[in-house]
Amino acid sequence: MRIAFLTGAGMSAESGVPTFRDALTGLWSRYDAMTLATEDAFRRDPALVWGWYRWRAAMVRRARPNAGHFGIAEFVRSGHAVEVVTQNVDDLHERGGMREAIHLHGRLFASRCLDCGATREPDPIVDGLDAIVDGVRETPPACDACGGPFRPGVVWFGEALPEDAWASAVAVLGRCELLVVVGTSGLVHPAASLPRLASTRGTRVIEINPVDSAVSPLAHECLRMPAGAGIRILLERYA
Ligand code: OAD
Repeated sequence: MRIAFLTGAGMSAESGVPTFRDALTGLWSRYDAMTLATEDAFRRDPALVWGWYRWRAAMVRRARPNAGHFGIAEFVRSGHAVEVVTQNVDDLHERGGMREAIHLHGRLFASRCLDCGATREPDPIVDGLDAIVDGVRETPPACDACGGPFRPGVVWFGEALPEDAWASAVAVLGRCELLVVVGTSGLVHPAASLPRLASTRGTRVIEINPVDSAVSPLAHECLRMPAGAGIRILLERYA
């Protein structure tokens, strides 16, 4: 069967990566993630925003894929055609065994110059990452080509999604025979409009989320539990 998984921050919660709408801690406790994830915030205070993303990147580096990530890869081994569309900027789907995932909101480990888009090898966001625990303000490195500041490779609020990722996601949602939506509040558009592309075609939509979300009304079935447990149930049913 052709199965699409559309995942959000709740997918990585059991790996210890906080969701977007969790309260922040430490240096960041006075901020809301939404106010840090914009180009305006970066231009106003680059060291604050670069430091925040370096802290997030360090956390992701230390995190391990959870039973949910591994479970999705198990669907592939059991012969299903599986495609993953994620709003997450971590690499836990790939480390959990998926050859590729469509990253609608970019990737943490793909920083580039804010002004000219140049990249650098190795990616400066990983420099000394293992030593970062609580996170500190940190001036972003300067671009070798134009001197502009490096920014994380994620999509900020107010920015367009990467065109190729969006086109691929629309195609995936247009051809799947089962859609599983995991751990997203379904509040951030345009990603939040994707489940409807499947449901209007009559495709079965299953949601996995411990609580009600904006996706719930169009889901045919809601598994009210964490990602790992929900995916295990679906594996028993379909694999
Ligand atoms: P949110 O933080 O908005 O929502 C996380 C969802 O995961 C909530 O509905 C939780 O109930 C659910 N959840 C929590 N723990 C879970 C678990 N163990 N298993 C399953 N579900 C769980 O995250 P997203 O919906 O991904 O965008 O947020 C969408 C976008 O908003 C993010 O990609 C990011 C953010 O701001 C950008 O940065 C552009």
